[in-house]
Amino acid sequence: MALNRALSGLFASGLWRHADVSKSTLLRTMATSGSVNGVPVEVHNENGNFRVVVTKELPGERWLDILKQANCRVEVSKHPDTILDNATVKKLIGNKCDGVIGQLTEDWGSELFECLKSAGGRAYSNYAVGYNNVKVEEATKRGIPVGNTPGVLTETTAELAAALTLAAARRVPEADVFMRAGHYKGWLPTLFVGQLLQNKTVGIIGAGRIGFAYARMMVEGHKMNLVYYDPYPNKKLEEYIKQYGELLRHNGEPPVFCKRVETMEEVLKEADVVSLHCNLDKTTHHLMNKERLNMMKPTAVLVNAARGPVIDEAALVQHLNANPEFRVGLDVFEDEPAMKPGLAQCPNAVIVPHIASASMWTRSGMATLAAANVAAVLQGYAVWPKPDNVLPFVEKPLSSLPKAAPSIVNYEELGLSLASVE
Ligand SMILES: NC(=O)c1ccc[n+]([C@@H]2O[C@H](COP(=O)([O-])OP(=O)(O)OC[C@H]3O[C@@H](n4cnc5c(N)ncnc54)[C@H](O)[C@@H]3O)[C@@H](O)[C@H]2O)c1
Repeated sequence: MALNRALSGLFASGLWRHADVSKSTLLRTMATSGSVNGVPVEVHNENGNFRVVVTKELPGERWLDILKQANCRVEVSKHPDTILDNATVKKLIGNKCDGVIGQLTEDWGSELFECLKSAGGRAYSNYAVGYNNVKVEEATKRGIPVGNTPGVLTETTAELAAALTLAAARRVPEADVFMRAGHYKGWLPTLFVGQLLQNKTVGIIGAGRIGFAYARMMVEGHKMNLVYYDPYPNKKLEEYIKQYGELLRHNGEPPVFCKRVETMEEVLKEADVVSLHCNLDKTTHHLMNKERLNMMKPTAVLVNAARGPVIDEAALVQHLNANPEFRVGLDVFEDEPAMKPGLAQCPNAVIVPHIASASMWTRSGMATLAAANVAAVLQGYAVWPKPDNVLPFVEKPLSSLPKAAPSIVNYEELGLSLASVE
């Protein structure tokens, strides 16, 4: 009680802004500690009607407020393991659980959905836009809607892909390591010479949301021509680049071009930079294999901020060793968190630990959408009909949050209706 009063005074005065501790950290201290079947949890809104389990701590506060507003008791796992195994997730679900927000590192298949169903579960949301870790048909079989979080990762993920492209093309990490090691003895014409991107050709495999955003960054930022492969044409992208080319022409500059090709091999042969933005499924597993790597220019840059298994990573290590001028920027890995032997020793690889969506806006937006998915399903709301325009969930005051689940991937199979939006 005294703590609550002290915190209320602190927030009202605005002093918390100057303290070396965030409001959310303070609010979290108001949660209670508990444990479920021996797994430590942080409990919020103890007396809520629905029990929602969150398998990892999430950033921001809005997601928690959404669940509290939906009368949920929220239990956030404090288990020390980075990746929770099925046995631990099952302990967290326990005997009674209405909904779960889970992570892309967890194996959401028949075992976990059966456990959730037996505990009375009615909702699951992945904290990710990709859901290759979820066997959606197993959830559908048990009548459980599966949510994901599209629309808030697009620009952040594309920016990291662009950062990897520039870092690989201009050898930034290699030069950074060299500098820190004290090897720099003075400017030299031959020191860390890399590739210029301006007016070259960028290739996209998978021109969906993120592929489109990345294409715009590279075309507008570096006046690159675009060649892309996607089973489905992206007319909006083609029209956008056409109009941008016209703008450049009007400005007296050489225009840029956009071309959709019939096979990904054409992209690989033509492009100076190739960025992968397809989803991972059976058809895209090892899409980039030894033969296809060999089709790329020996000086090309390959970027993967999609999913690790899209590249045959062992073949990539061989290719990097055989082609020192070939460069790769990787956010994701085939056997995450491990890397294939030899990759870490390749100076022509830029490697970061799956941080493509790691901007604060995106990570808290993902939490908001995942919470809104679970809260909406538990309250019996329909499905938001515009998963690519989810800003109302992220930006509107909580009191006017849309009464809908932002994105349920199996809504058609489950016969869920779409909400009507003006
Ligand atoms: N690294 C990260 O942190 C991170 C963050 C967000 C998304 N992702 C990954 O990026 C993927 C793409 O996200 P999105 O929001 O752009 O999805 P999206 O569904 O909008 O786009 C995927 C595109 O890939 C295309 N595609 C499918 N199979 C293909 C193939 N064989 N060849 C070429 N194109 C193919 C689809 O037609 C679609 O246009 C996600 O599935 C996810 O796995 C990774």
